[in-house]
Amino acid sequence: MRETIVAGNWKMHKTVDEAVSYVQQLIPLVKDVKVKVYLAVPYTMIQPCIEAATGSNIVIGAQNMHDASDGAFTGEVAGQMLMDVGAQFVLLGHSERRHVFGEDNSFINRKVKTALKLGLQPILCVGETLQQREDGQMESTLRAQIEENLSGVDGLKSLILAYEPVWAIGTGKTATPHQAEEAHTFCRGVVQELYGDGAADALTIQYGGSVKPENAKTLLDQKNIDGLLVGGASLTPETFSQIVNAENKVSL
Ligand code: PGA
Repeated sequence: MRETIVAGNWKMHKTVDEAVSYVQQLIPLVKDVKVKVYLAVPYTMIQPCIEAATGSNIVIGAQNMHDASDGAFTGEVAGQMLMDVGAQFVLLGHSERRHVFGEDNSFINRKVKTALKLGLQPILCVGETLQQREDGQMESTLRAQIEENLSGVDGLKSLILAYEPVWAIGTGKTATPHQAEEAHTFCRGVVQELYGDGAADALTIQYGGSVKPENAKTLLDQKNIDGLLVGGASLTPETFSQIVNAENKVSL
């Protein structure tokens, strides 16, 4: 049995007031869902969102972190600092971090290790570009990301994997349920090679890339899709709650 987790990723959007009012509006809309509801918010909104979400089933986390505990890293935020304000999870290796900010697999690997050591739940994002897919390199890209990002990681503990094809992020082009299921099955297979059947079966793998209320259910109906990571459509409580409520699959 694995958990179904639907996460919103606000990216660089909203003010504190907007964030708090969003959380207040979302609470009644998702209070009866069986899935876990996560929100990855900008750093400045973590604490106010946690306060606003107190007593609800909404889990607040961050969108990135540095692997070091402290040091001369201007503009960076450490995992400990996120935990200090109450963040419960962190996105790592999001495609915008990889492709816009040039984060490589070894940096992401260090972050994964730090987060797991701290007990901060990582959502590790992987995915191929359109060029890689067209060149027949989808599998080799996903394999390299998973193997290198998890190198030296003893056990997956609370880790969540998110498959986010780069060509589907913010483009309105969703992977078909079949394409997504194929990639998820492949990723689970790589995890099985590395950590065995038990760990692979228990691993929650989210799909991300232009998820909307209209396609959420068919994606979640796939056997190996255990949740969603939602960018643009998570920006309003109405749309995000429709996606969260699309799910009624709670176990295998
Ligand atoms: P999108 O973003 O839903 O806007 O495509 C997904 C993501 O970047 O996590």
